[in-house]
Order: sequence, then structure tokens, then C-alpha cells
Amino acid sequence: MEQVNIPVTEPDRQYHFMNLLSEHVFDMTSKNGTSPTFNVTTFGCQMNAHDSEKLKGILTTAGFTEVSEEETPDLVILNTCTVRENANQKLYGHLGLLKSLKQKNPGMMIGLCGCMMQESHVIETIKSKYRHVDLVFGTHNIYKLAELLYRLLTEGGPVIEILDGTDTVVEALPQKRKYPFKGGVNIMYGCNNFCTYCIVPYVRGREKSRPKEEILAEVSSLAKDGAKEIMLLGQNVNSYAYDFPGLLSEVAAIEGVERVRFMTSHPKDLSDRLIDVIASEEKIARHIHLPVQSGSSAILKKMNRVYTKESYLDLVNRIRAKLPDISITTDIIVGFPGETETDFEETLDVCRKVRYDQAFTFIYSKRTGTPAAVFPDQVPPEVIKDRFDRLLATVNQIATERTARFAGSTRSVLVEDINRQDAGYLTGRTSENLTVHFPGDPSLIGQIVDVKLTEPKGFYYMGEL
Ligand code: SAH
Ligand code: SF4
Ligand code: F3S
Repeated sequence: MEQVNIPVTEPDRQYHFMNLLSEHVFDMTSKNGTSPTFNVTTFGCQMNAHDSEKLKGILTTAGFTEVSEEETPDLVILNTCTVRENANQKLYGHLGLLKSLKQKNPGMMIGLCGCMMQESHVIETIKSKYRHVDLVFGTHNIYKLAELLYRLLTEGGPVIEILDGTDTVVEALPQKRKYPFKGGVNIMYGCNNFCTYCIVPYVRGREKSRPKEEILAEVSSLAKDGAKEIMLLGQNVNSYAYDFPGLLSEVAAIEGVERVRFMTSHPKDLSDRLIDVIASEEKIARHIHLPVQSGSSAILKKMNRVYTKESYLDLVNRIRAKLPDISITTDIIVGFPGETETDFEETLDVCRKVRYDQAFTFIYSKRTGTPAAVFPDQVPPEVIKDRFDRLLATVNQIATERTARFAGSTRSVLVEDINRQDAGYLTGRTSENLTVHFPGDPSLIGQIVDVKLTEPKGFYYMGEL
């Protein structure tokens, strides 16, 4: 049997498998007349969305063609999230649909990856109840898609490979970006904060920061490739090991970069220097996502968030003193174990004091294996529902009022897409992350243009060039 040397070092090894895959794809194409197709569906956060761009990059390099799921692709990959129970349920629902699709198209391959796959009970369930799944991998070996898929195609499946953790982070693999004019860049992986409700540290592993030079090189190459907006990604960018404010200004200085965003900021680590850097560099977006989770210091303590209501409000004041127009958005959890009506009112109070531009509100979801799952005084569902509705009404009203503050002003807008409802309109985003729809020609997509915000519509604007 012919045996070529398989490189042991990465990313060479994966390029080797992409090559082997492409030979396979060539044979499939000559046999069927069309190249094999794939679809990747993403659940969860920006980190997952960016991982999916890497998966698509690998598959495209190997010769697969991207199609929608309705077009019954030869390979379907679901990149999963497990941050809340409903994210979990969505996957099982989706797998049920794919089962009937596969019965009609027996050649179809189904792959699962992402955060949910790092939970052993999920793997057990898939092995016993979802036997139509062909390929399973996790968050630590996502870069190995080419190798694992090659194994599936040559040796048969199911191929299941889950690692408990890893020291190797493999970069420099292909990426297929959704929009050519913007790109996400991981600056760190994992999380060390262990907020007591959160499963992310268990499924993403410990914090690892990428060297600055590597990040800057990736941003430069994205910028050369046409990316004007760069999103720096990490679960807590403020604990980036090699000086986040410094990194931010160096990224903004790269030729071709016109806008820099970052996500997410943990309030406990946001420094005054970061505020100064944002204030001194116009290219850095006027938007900070600053998850508060709760307004009650007692609950924050139980959550292990390491800040208090007072220190959070003080931080917001320091940000607004130097950046009066900045948008501040947040995440809030309702019904954390032990949350009393008084605790909840503290949360409402923080919302009224901070006046968030947008708030993502979540019902507390018990995640097995996290400390909070066994805390006493779990809050009854009907109490949570009532609080959730009151919170939503409060944050929506404030967000609507906040949005209206820009009425009549002209802002620079990165044009992202043709409007989904009306093809004569374009959709773009301001530096504050505000969406605006305005009449315009699709040739403007990917450009930064001046748009007058004429009519506030709650969370978005209608405008004109
Ligand atoms: N690293 C980010 C958050 C990542 S998870 C941060 O610390 O800000 C995104 C959001 O999901 C969190 O901000 C939190 O509001 C919510 N979340 C996480 N675990 C949850 C749980 N068990 N129940 C409900 N919401 C949860
Ligand atoms: Fe989860 Fe907290 Fe880490 Fe955010 S900082 S990912 S909420 S543990
Ligand atoms: Fe979900 Fe994983 Fe992100 S659990 S929120 S996709 S890090």
C-alpha cells in the first residue's frame, strides 16, 4: 500500500489532509458531475461564529461547495452551544429534522462540533439515540476537521474524537468570512473566571492568550484582504495577557483598518487606560458590551463576578466621563438561585441608572456541573417569568429612549447588506453598533458612508445618505 509521510506538526498536517480530501473531492466530482456540498449551522456566540468561518475555510479549500441546508448538502455540520438549556434542546430538535432528511438521502454526512460536544452526557446521548450522526469533535480539536473527515470518508464512521483540553492552539488555517469587509480575530481562548452559573470554562478550557505579533499579523493580512472592520474576540478581552489597551491601539494603527470592535469586556478588569485608549482613537468603536448579570451585590458575590453594584456604576461613570456618547450594552440573568425581590429591584435600579442602549436578558438556566446548579433557593419559574417581563419592559423602554438620542445626526455607517425586506434599501451599522436602513445602491456594500439618521424606530433607524 502506498504510504506517504504524514506531517506531525500543525498546521502542515491539516494542509496535508486538505490535499488528500481535495483528491477525494475530485473523484466525487468526476463521478457525480458536481462537486460535493456542505452547510455549517452555527449556534451560540461570536466565538462559535468565528470557528464556523474556519470550518468553512477548510471545507472550501478541500473543494466542497457551500449551499443552504434546504438544498440537502452532502455534509451538514452543526456547531453547537450549551450556555443555556434551550440551546441544548434546539440541537436535539434539529437532529430530528436531519434524520428524516438523511433517510431520503442516505449518502448525507452529519457532523457535530462545538461546546455541547465537550459534555460527556451529550456524547452518550448521541451514541445511543442519534446514530445517524457520522462525525463528532469538540472545541479543542476543531482545527482537525480535514483529518477527521478524511478518516470518515476512507475508513467509515462514526468518527468521534473529543479532547478534554489542549495546549496546542492551531492557527493559520483557511477561513471563509461571511462578509469580506469585516473579520473576527481571536485574541484569546477559554475562560478562567468560573462565574458560578456558567459552563463556558468547562467546555472551552483555561484561558490562553495569543501572542501579540501573531494577532497583528492576522489583522494585517485581513486588512490587505479588504477587511475594514476588525472584531477582537475573547470571553474576557480585558484579561488578555499581553496588554489589551496596547493591542487595541496597535490594531487600530494597521493600514486599511477603519473600525475596531471587541467582545466581551468583563467589568472586573476594565482599566482606565482602556477607556483612555478608546477615547484617543476614533477608529475604535463607540460601543462597550459590559455584562452586568445582576444589580445586587449579594447576588454578584454568589455569581463570583468579583465586582459590586457600586463599583460597576462607578466604572460606567468613568467610561461616560471620557466617552459621553458611547453605547453601553449588557447581559442580565434573571432568577439566579437565591435572588429575592429586593435583589431583582437592584437590577432594575442599575438599568435605570446606566440606561443601557441594549440589554440581552436571560432566564437563569441550571447547567449541570456548575456550582450554582446545586445552590439552595432555586427561584420558582412563575416568579422568574414575572421578573423577566418587568425587566424586559424596563430595558426596552430605556433602549428606545437611548436610540432616539441620535435623531437628526449624521454618522459614519459601514454598509453591510441589502435590506432583507426591501431590496431598494441597504442596511449598515454605526460605530455605536446601531443598525440603520436607508435607500441606496448595492455597490456601496462594504463601504463606510455618511448617513443621516432621520427616524428612530425603537432599536434601529431609518436614514438617508
Ligand atoms: N464571557 C462573557 C459571557 C459569555 S456567555 C461574559 O462574561 O460577559 C453570554 C451570556 O450568557 C452571559 O453574559 C450570561 O448573561 C448568559 N449566561 C451564561 N450562563 C448562563 C446560565 N447558566 N443561565 C442563563 N444565562 C447564562
Ligand atoms: Fe462565563 Fe463568566 Fe467566563 Fe463569561 S467570564 S464566559 S460568564 S465564566
Ligand atoms: Fe455557547 Fe460556547 Fe459561546 S457555550 S455562548 S458557543 S462559548
